[in-house]
Amino acid sequence: MKNANSKLIIAIDGYSSCGKSTFAKQIAKTLGYIYIDSGAMYRAATLYCMENSLINEGEVLISKLLAKLNKIKIGFHFNRDSQLFETILNDENVEERIRTVSVSNFVSPVSKIKEVREKMVEIQRNLGKNKGIVMDGRDIGTIVFPNADLKIFMTANPAIRTQRRYDESIEKGQDVSYREIENNILTRDRIDEGREISPLKMAHDAILLDNSHLSVKEQMEWVMKIIEDILEK
Ligand code: DC
Repeated sequence: MKNANSKLIIAIDGYSSCGKSTFAKQIAKTLGYIYIDSGAMYRAATLYCMENSLINEGEVLISKLLAKLNKIKIGFHFNRDSQLFETILNDENVEERIRTVSVSNFVSPVSKIKEVREKMVEIQRNLGKNKGIVMDGRDIGTIVFPNADLKIFMTANPAIRTQRRYDESIEKGQDVSYREIENNILTRDRIDEGREISPLKMAHDAILLDNSHLSVKEQMEWVMKIIEDILEK
């Protein structure tokens, strides 16, 4: 086992609501790695825009946002109870507030902006400098860590993704409809895939995982075999 002691960088990309974060968290827990949710960073930047009048009638006021970009400080705090990193925006824990449907509705336009992406990618690369990390997002295997040791690109049938996200939202007590969630997922997929900078796309060396009909347990067994192979090489 040549690589048994070496730590990997694992990149998980894919469509909205495919269960990327559940999957990435489990892999990180199994390997004793850190897990970073890169989408949380774009969500935090979006929350900042919403709370600082940088979005007007659905449009991001780009020049105003760029003038304030250096005031947006995003980081993570390790919660010992949950054993997870929580998102911090300008010294405030925003982990819950970034998960609302209104943030989801504005996050794709904010994450299209080149300067926003450059800032996030710099933070993300810094978080991965010691390896031993699982990061999920849209451009992790293509842009953030093009040399990642393992890249997985996740997809699932849109109706299945909508139902999963709907069930999760209802469980959290959010007041949302199935249609609203479906619209949000399809719109985000379209914007994320169609944007000019760092679009959502499968890296040429990524492994495709369609988990429409896989249980969480089955997908974990699948990935652990792949990881063991990498560590044994
Ligand atoms: O992973 P998520 O659904 O919480 O991400 C929210 C949005 O952030 C997603 O619609 C697109 C954007 N995003 C991105 O552009 N690049 C990433 N690496 C992660 C997320």
